[in-house]
Amino acid sequence: PHGLLSDALGRPLRDLRISVTDRCNFRCAYCMPKEVFGRDHRFLPQEALLSFEETTRLARLFAAHGVRKLRLTGGEPLLRKHVERLVAMLAELRTADGEPMDITLTTNASLLARKAQALKDAGLQRVTVSLDAIDDAVFRRMNDVDFAVADVLAGIEAAQRVGLGPIKVNMVVRRGTNDHEIVPMARHFRGSGVVLRFIEYMDVGSTNGWRMDHVLPSAEVLARIDAAHPLEPLAPSQTGETAERWRYRDGSGEIGLISSVTQAFCGDCNRARLSTEGKLFLCLFASRGHDLRALLRGGASDEQLSAAIASAWGVREDQYSVLRAQMPADMGSAERKVEMHYIGG
Ligand code: GTP
Ligand code: 5AD
Ligand code: SF4
Ligand code: SF4
Repeated sequence: PHGLLSDALGRPLRDLRISVTDRCNFRCAYCMPKEVFGRDHRFLPQEALLSFEETTRLARLFAAHGVRKLRLTGGEPLLRKHVERLVAMLAELRTADGEPMDITLTTNASLLARKAQALKDAGLQRVTVSLDAIDDAVFRRMNDVDFAVADVLAGIEAAQRVGLGPIKVNMVVRRGTNDHEIVPMARHFRGSGVVLRFIEYMDVGSTNGWRMDHVLPSAEVLARIDAAHPLEPLAPSQTGETAERWRYRDGSGEIGLISSVTQAFCGDCNRARLSTEGKLFLCLFASRGHDLRALLRGGASDEQLSAAIASAWGVREDQYSVLRAQMPADMGSAERKVEMHYIGG
């Protein structure tokens, strides 16, 4: 059962995204709207979460199958107690050909200033920070918990200072909500060494009331920035990359466009996702996961776990974004999809 894998569409397994908590201290309307995730929302109980030992054991088996990059997500991953201990355990793992793993984390940066040094010391290589606006009022409205832009920027600076870079910033663009912030965001991060990436608002989950007319196509993002600060395309740095890269002609850095709605990139999608409670999801838009925790806690051997991973990946046919682009506008999957705060994006 060991060895590198290829799915039903010939795609290898390279990237494992591990959600370490389903909790978040923000309530971004496109991800955890307050009406749905209110005071009485039940999050997963502690015993449901994979322990750090369980997560590391699975990550080691994934590495033997070809995974080279680990990304910790949430919810908000820095809310998981002692997450730097998990980072330290993962940092010991090696790829199938003996290289160190690329270990990174996607965070809202609310706790980043406090944790950056510990994360770096544990072996984290870089971070990606979510930030949807540079205007304080717009950002406070979007995170819906009145969190200030200045505190996110302080987290980014702390991460830069300790060497957790190059840092990427993700901005989800929702037409009519923050699309007027595209050029101000670009302006703010030009020349800072931070790579700003614009994500098309996606129909993940079933609670955010997604509509096609809320999507601002990346082509338009590009046109708006290019008009103010001319850009030129860059070659992809890796196959299977989510972002199309562009650089400012004046040398002041690069941006990325993540266009999963208007230009699906399923064709070389090499990403697997492990949920907080140990379910393996083969697509961000999947309805069901494979319960690896049941195997772990049922006493499965490494060989059995490894075979379960291999057989799940071997029959994988997921290409949701490609299929969704062929459906009529405003029609999504009929099945209830996994929620973003649970699977981590
Ligand atoms: P790096 O570029 O190496 O940092 O990795 P990455 O591009 O995977 O980074 P990141 O986790 O920041 O991904 C950016 C965003 O792209 C995610 O938050 C998602 O919104 C989106 N995304 C990532 N992977 C997928 C995917 O497989 N499918 C879709 N549809 N969207 C994805
Ligand atoms: N569409 C696009 N991106 C989203 N994210 C969360 N929900 C959505 C959505 N519906 C982003 C977050 C974060 C990353 C984990 O995914 O803002 O940057
Ligand atoms: Fe939290 Fe990120 Fe979801 Fe916002 S997008 S609610 S910060 S997990
Ligand atoms: Fe991969 Fe699914 Fe995203 Fe397509 S929609 S790129 S298959 S995770």
